[in-house]
Amino acid sequence: MDLRQASGEGIDSWQEVTLVYNAALRQIETKMEILNDEFQHVHQYNPIEHIKARIKTPESIVKKLKRHGYESTIENMVKHINDIAGIRIICSFTSDIYRIADMISEQKDIRVIAVKDYITYPKASGYKSYHMIVTVPVYLSDRIVDTKVEMQIRTVAMDFWASLEHKIHYKFEGDAPEHIRSELVECARLVSDLDARMLSLNEEILVLGGVEQNAAI
Ligand code: GTP
Ligand code: MG
Repeated sequence: MDLRQASGEGIDSWQEVTLVYNAALRQIETKMEILNDEFQHVHQYNPIEHIKARIKTPESIVKKLKRHGYESTIENMVKHINDIAGIRIICSFTSDIYRIADMISEQKDIRVIAVKDYITYPKASGYKSYHMIVTVPVYLSDRIVDTKVEMQIRTVAMDFWASLEHKIHYKFEGDAPEHIRSELVECARLVSDLDARMLSLNEEILVLGGVEQNAAI
Protein backbone atom coordinates (compact mmCIF):
# COMPACT_ATOMS: atom_id res chain seq x y z
CA MET A 1 0.00 0.00 0.00
CA ASP A 2 1.28 3.43 -0.93
CA LEU A 3 0.62 5.70 2.04
CA ARG A 4 0.79 9.36 1.17
CA GLN A 5 1.57 11.74 4.04
CA ALA A 6 -0.76 14.71 3.67
CA SER A 7 -1.10 17.75 5.90
CA GLY A 8 -4.76 18.28 5.31
CA GLU A 9 -4.33 18.82 1.56
CA GLY A 10 -5.81 15.41 0.96
CA ILE A 11 -9.20 16.49 2.31
CA ASP A 12 -11.59 17.34 -0.50
CA SER A 13 -15.14 17.48 0.84
CA TRP A 14 -17.03 18.67 3.90
CA GLN A 15 -17.91 15.04 4.76
CA GLU A 16 -14.21 14.24 4.75
CA VAL A 17 -13.44 17.26 6.96
CA THR A 18 -15.93 16.00 9.53
CA LEU A 19 -14.62 12.45 9.32
CA VAL A 20 -10.93 13.33 9.63
CA TYR A 21 -11.29 15.94 12.40
CA ASN A 22 -13.63 13.67 14.37
CA ALA A 23 -11.05 10.90 14.12
CA ALA A 24 -8.27 13.25 15.29
CA LEU A 25 -10.38 14.42 18.22
CA ARG A 26 -11.18 10.84 19.28
CA GLN A 27 -7.50 9.94 19.18
CA ILE A 28 -6.50 12.86 21.41
CA GLU A 29 -9.38 12.13 23.77
CA THR A 30 -8.30 8.48 24.05
CA LYS A 31 -4.69 9.48 24.61
CA MET A 32 -5.79 11.76 27.46
CA GLU A 33 -7.92 9.02 29.02
CA ILE A 34 -5.02 6.56 28.84
CA LEU A 35 -2.65 9.07 30.50
CA ASN A 36 -5.24 9.69 33.20
CA ASP A 37 -5.73 5.95 33.83
CA GLU A 38 -1.98 5.38 33.97
CA PHE A 39 -1.57 8.27 36.37
CA GLN A 40 -4.26 6.78 38.59
CA HIS A 41 -2.45 3.44 38.49
CA VAL A 42 0.98 4.88 39.36
CA HIS A 43 0.12 7.78 41.67
CA GLN A 44 -3.42 6.88 42.85
CA TYR A 45 -4.54 10.23 41.55
CA ASN A 46 -6.43 11.58 38.47
CA PRO A 47 -4.94 14.81 37.06
CA ILE A 48 -7.92 15.22 34.73
CA GLU A 49 -11.31 16.19 36.18
CA HIS A 50 -13.12 16.03 32.85
CA ILE A 51 -12.77 16.46 29.11
CA LYS A 52 -14.98 18.31 26.63
CA ALA A 53 -14.52 17.79 22.91
CA ARG A 54 -16.26 19.51 20.03
CA ILE A 55 -16.13 20.00 16.28
CA LYS A 56 -16.67 23.59 15.12
CA THR A 57 -19.97 24.07 13.30
CA PRO A 58 -19.84 24.84 9.55
CA GLU A 59 -21.51 28.24 10.24
CA SER A 60 -18.85 29.20 12.73
CA ILE A 61 -16.03 28.04 10.41
CA VAL A 62 -17.44 30.14 7.54
CA LYS A 63 -17.83 33.15 9.89
CA LYS A 64 -14.22 32.88 11.06
CA LEU A 65 -12.86 32.53 7.50
CA LYS A 66 -14.83 35.63 6.51
CA ARG A 67 -13.53 37.53 9.55
CA HIS A 68 -9.97 36.77 8.47
CA GLY A 69 -10.70 37.67 4.83
CA TYR A 70 -10.60 34.17 3.36
CA GLU A 71 -13.01 32.57 0.90
CA SER A 72 -15.00 29.60 2.20
CA THR A 73 -13.09 26.72 0.66
CA ILE A 74 -12.05 23.39 2.16
CA GLU A 75 -8.41 24.29 1.49
CA ASN A 76 -8.68 27.57 3.44
CA MET A 77 -10.50 25.83 6.28
CA VAL A 78 -7.81 23.21 6.71
CA LYS A 79 -4.98 25.70 6.33
CA HIS A 80 -6.22 28.66 8.36
CA ILE A 81 -8.65 27.40 11.00
CA ASN A 82 -6.75 25.78 13.85
CA ASP A 83 -9.74 25.00 16.03
CA ILE A 84 -11.99 22.90 13.77
CA ALA A 85 -11.35 20.13 16.29
CA GLY A 86 -11.13 21.38 19.87
CA ILE A 87 -10.61 19.63 23.16
CA ARG A 88 -10.78 21.19 26.62
CA ILE A 89 -9.06 19.40 29.47
CA ILE A 90 -10.11 20.45 32.95
CA CYS A 91 -7.76 19.71 35.87
CA SER A 92 -7.80 20.29 39.61
CA PHE A 93 -4.45 22.03 40.01
CA THR A 94 -2.28 24.36 37.94
CA SER A 95 0.62 21.89 38.26
CA ASP A 96 -1.51 19.26 36.48
CA ILE A 97 -1.81 21.55 33.44
CA TYR A 98 1.93 21.56 32.77
CA ARG A 99 2.19 17.86 33.57
CA ILE A 100 -0.47 17.07 30.96
CA ALA A 101 1.05 19.44 28.38
CA ASP A 102 4.46 17.76 28.83
CA MET A 103 3.02 14.26 28.58
CA ILE A 104 1.23 15.15 25.34
CA SER A 105 4.29 16.87 23.82
CA GLU A 106 6.43 13.82 24.52
CA GLN A 107 4.25 11.48 22.44
CA LYS A 108 6.08 10.53 19.23
CA ASP A 109 3.13 10.77 16.84
CA ILE A 110 2.05 14.19 18.13
CA ARG A 111 3.58 17.35 16.74
CA VAL A 112 3.19 20.57 18.69
CA ILE A 113 2.68 23.45 16.24
CA ALA A 114 2.01 26.30 18.67
CA VAL A 115 1.71 26.98 22.36
CA LYS A 116 0.07 29.96 24.08
CA ASP A 117 0.64 30.05 27.81
CA TYR A 118 -2.11 32.32 29.11
CA ILE A 119 -1.37 31.06 32.62
CA THR A 120 2.07 32.61 32.86
CA TYR A 121 0.87 35.49 30.65
CA PRO A 122 -2.89 36.00 31.24
CA LYS A 123 -4.94 38.09 28.79
CA ALA A 124 -5.91 41.65 29.77
CA SER A 125 -9.47 40.35 30.31
CA GLY A 126 -8.09 38.07 33.05
CA TYR A 127 -8.39 34.93 30.87
CA LYS A 128 -6.10 32.08 31.91
CA SER A 129 -5.62 28.78 30.12
CA TYR A 130 -2.84 26.79 28.42
CA HIS A 131 -3.38 26.43 24.67
CA MET A 132 -1.68 24.01 22.31
CA ILE A 133 -2.21 23.42 18.61
CA VAL A 134 -1.05 19.91 17.84
CA THR A 135 -1.30 17.57 14.89
CA VAL A 136 -2.12 13.90 15.13
CA PRO A 137 -1.86 11.46 12.20
CA VAL A 138 -5.18 10.07 11.01
CA TYR A 139 -4.75 6.81 9.11
CA LEU A 140 -7.16 6.54 6.19
CA SER A 141 -7.24 3.58 3.78
CA ASP A 142 -4.84 5.13 1.29
CA ARG A 143 -3.08 7.94 3.15
CA ILE A 144 -2.16 9.51 6.45
CA VAL A 145 -3.57 12.97 7.18
CA ASP A 146 -1.81 15.04 9.86
CA THR A 147 -4.75 16.79 11.47
CA LYS A 148 -4.78 19.84 13.73
CA VAL A 149 -6.46 19.82 17.13
CA GLU A 150 -6.69 22.82 19.49
CA MET A 151 -6.15 21.82 23.11
CA GLN A 152 -7.16 24.10 25.96
CA ILE A 153 -5.92 22.97 29.36
CA ARG A 154 -7.17 24.79 32.45
CA THR A 155 -8.22 24.29 36.08
CA VAL A 156 -11.84 23.90 37.24
CA ALA A 157 -11.69 27.46 38.63
CA MET A 158 -10.28 28.90 35.38
CA ASP A 159 -13.01 27.07 33.46
CA PHE A 160 -15.71 28.49 35.74
CA TRP A 161 -14.40 32.00 35.10
CA ALA A 162 -14.02 31.50 31.32
CA SER A 163 -17.59 30.18 30.96
CA LEU A 164 -19.11 33.21 32.65
CA GLU A 165 -16.82 35.63 30.84
CA HIS A 166 -17.74 34.00 27.51
CA LYS A 167 -21.46 34.36 28.32
CA ILE A 168 -20.99 38.04 29.22
CA HIS A 169 -18.85 38.67 26.12
CA TYR A 170 -21.56 37.11 23.96
CA LYS A 171 -24.40 38.98 25.66
CA PHE A 172 -22.76 42.40 25.20
CA GLU A 173 -21.30 41.47 21.79
CA GLY A 174 -17.79 42.09 23.12
CA ASP A 175 -18.63 45.50 24.55
CA ALA A 176 -19.45 44.88 28.22
CA PRO A 177 -19.82 47.91 30.56
CA GLU A 178 -16.66 48.98 32.38
CA HIS A 179 -17.86 47.91 35.86
CA ILE A 180 -18.55 44.38 34.60
CA ARG A 181 -15.15 44.15 32.93
CA SER A 182 -13.33 45.32 36.03
CA GLU A 183 -15.37 42.94 38.20
CA LEU A 184 -14.30 40.10 35.89
CA VAL A 185 -10.65 41.12 36.22
CA GLU A 186 -11.07 41.09 40.01
CA CYS A 187 -12.74 37.64 39.85
CA ALA A 188 -9.82 36.39 37.72
CA ARG A 189 -7.46 37.55 40.46
CA LEU A 190 -9.54 35.64 43.04
CA VAL A 191 -9.45 32.55 40.79
CA SER A 192 -5.63 32.72 40.60
CA ASP A 193 -5.44 33.16 44.36
CA LEU A 194 -7.81 30.22 44.94
CA ASP A 195 -5.81 28.00 42.54
CA ALA A 196 -2.55 28.89 44.30
CA ARG A 197 -3.98 28.23 47.78
CA MET A 198 -5.65 24.95 46.80
CA LEU A 199 -2.36 23.82 45.23
CA SER A 200 -0.33 24.57 48.34
CA LEU A 201 -2.95 22.90 50.55
CA ASN A 202 -2.73 19.83 48.35
CA GLU A 203 1.07 19.85 48.45
CA GLU A 204 0.94 20.08 52.23
CA ILE A 205 -1.30 17.03 52.58
CA LEU A 206 0.81 15.11 50.05
CA VAL A 207 3.86 15.65 52.27
CA LEU A 208 1.92 14.18 55.19
CA GLY A 209 1.29 11.13 52.98
CA GLY A 210 -1.17 8.30 53.29
CA VAL A 211 -4.12 10.25 51.90
CA GLU A 212 -6.24 8.42 49.32
CA GLN A 213 -6.84 11.32 46.94
CA ASN A 214 -9.96 9.90 45.33
CA ALA A 215 -11.33 8.25 48.45
CA ALA A 216 -14.37 10.54 48.59
CA ILE A 217 -15.56 9.73 45.06
P1 GTP B 1 -9.92 32.64 18.19
O1 GTP B 1 -9.82 33.25 16.82
O2 GTP B 1 -10.98 33.24 19.07
O3 GTP B 1 -10.06 31.14 18.15
O4 GTP B 1 -8.56 33.01 18.94
P2 GTP B 1 -7.04 32.96 18.48
O5 GTP B 1 -6.88 32.24 17.21
O6 GTP B 1 -6.47 34.33 18.59
O7 GTP B 1 -6.40 32.04 19.60
P3 GTP B 1 -6.48 32.14 21.19
O8 GTP B 1 -5.52 31.09 21.64
O9 GTP B 1 -6.28 33.51 21.72
O10 GTP B 1 -7.97 31.70 21.54
C1 GTP B 1 -8.46 30.45 21.22
C2 GTP B 1 -9.69 30.14 22.03
O11 GTP B 1 -9.45 30.34 23.44
C3 GTP B 1 -10.93 30.97 21.77
O12 GTP B 1 -11.64 30.51 20.66
C4 GTP B 1 -11.70 30.78 23.09
O13 GTP B 1 -12.32 29.51 23.13
C5 GTP B 1 -10.59 30.80 24.11
N1 GTP B 1 -10.34 32.18 24.59
C6 GTP B 1 -9.34 32.99 24.22
N2 GTP B 1 -9.39 34.18 24.85
C7 GTP B 1 -10.48 34.12 25.66
C8 GTP B 1 -11.08 35.06 26.59
O14 GTP B 1 -10.63 36.19 26.80
N3 GTP B 1 -12.20 34.61 27.25
C9 GTP B 1 -12.73 33.37 27.05
N4 GTP B 1 -13.84 33.03 27.75
N5 GTP B 1 -12.19 32.48 26.19
C10 GTP B 1 -11.08 32.85 25.50
MG1 MG C 1 -11.69 29.37 18.82
